[in-house]
Amino acid sequence: MRKDSDRRMVEFLTILESASASGHVSGQILASKAGISRSAVWKHVRSLRLCGYGVESVHGLGYRLVRETTAPVPWELKKRLKTSVVGSQIVYRQVADSTQAIAVAIADKFPQADGTVVIAEEQKSGRGRMRRRWFSPPGGLWFSVLLRPKVPTKEITMLPFVAATAVRDAIVETTNLHLDLKWPNDIMVSGKKVAGILLDISAEAEVVNYAVIGIGVNANTDAKLIASRVDSSQAITSLSDELEHEVNRLELAVLILEGLERYLNLLSLRGPSAIIAEWISKSAMLGKRVTVVQNNKPVYEGVASDISGDGSLVVILDSGSKILVTSGDLRVRY
Ligand code: BTN
Repeated sequence: MRKDSDRRMVEFLTILESASASGHVSGQILASKAGISRSAVWKHVRSLRLCGYGVESVHGLGYRLVRETTAPVPWELKKRLKTSVVGSQIVYRQVADSTQAIAVAIADKFPQADGTVVIAEEQKSGRGRMRRRWFSPPGGLWFSVLLRPKVPTKEITMLPFVAATAVRDAIVETTNLHLDLKWPNDIMVSGKKVAGILLDISAEAEVVNYAVIGIGVNANTDAKLIASRVDSSQAITSLSDELEHEVNRLELAVLILEGLERYLNLLSLRGPSAIIAEWISKSAMLGKRVTVVQNNKPVYEGVASDISGDGSLVVILDSGSKILVTSGDLRVRY
């Protein structure tokens, strides 16, 4: 749906919402209140249902709004978000190839765009780290945030830590689940991955042109279905599988976006050490035995001892020597 039709639908929603307070309302009354045709009423009802609203229709009585949406639709996000940059513009698609690709295209085309959020209900070519496929069926929370952070290029490696911490906090606040952070940027529940972060950047030696942070949360998705469709040896779960009920994706998206802005501000005010300290305080990984996997092969084994100032993982090998790992996956023995 695009801007103009969104605006008309939201106007119709406001009318339907207030009319529903006293029961069902006929298509004819709705049409005259909104100044539209009866068939336009029907089209709006259909679009609202597609966006997750419950609109009851009873023969002879008319329509009634019986349930608000829990989908991350832009007008509901805008109403709730208390941010100044993140979410300044929101692009929403039922289906996209990849929100990451859309956000990168916006960054290239609009040099002023900052804080733009691109959300899709479903991605056909979702992208994960290390060129992996990210299976993104309906029910998940799939979005990308375009930022022009005023941080030195060398601090850009902090963004995945910023995002992972924001996602973790938001999930804990909405679900009360016990979450863990796994280097470099996985969000875990009971040793299984529930969300991941992807970073695309365009930067020069001194300045960052833009960064696009991609966030994928297996919210109301079937983890078994996802696991059967991804090329990863990692165990996968979803919030709905863990909780045995669905989560409110709208509420979750608001909290993630607000957390993102909060931790970005922390990064620019207090620098990388403050972000790393936040991340470490929410991770149970340090002090544990780990295997570092690169190109699907285990390359180092040792104890994860710290996160360095640039976000690398410090591992103490069995020989006693200390190495800095800048990329790869991790298997952690808890
Ligand atoms: C990972 O491999 O852990 C990172 C996954 C990131 C997936 C998100 S979903 C929204 C955005 N669009 C994409 O194509 N990928 C990211």
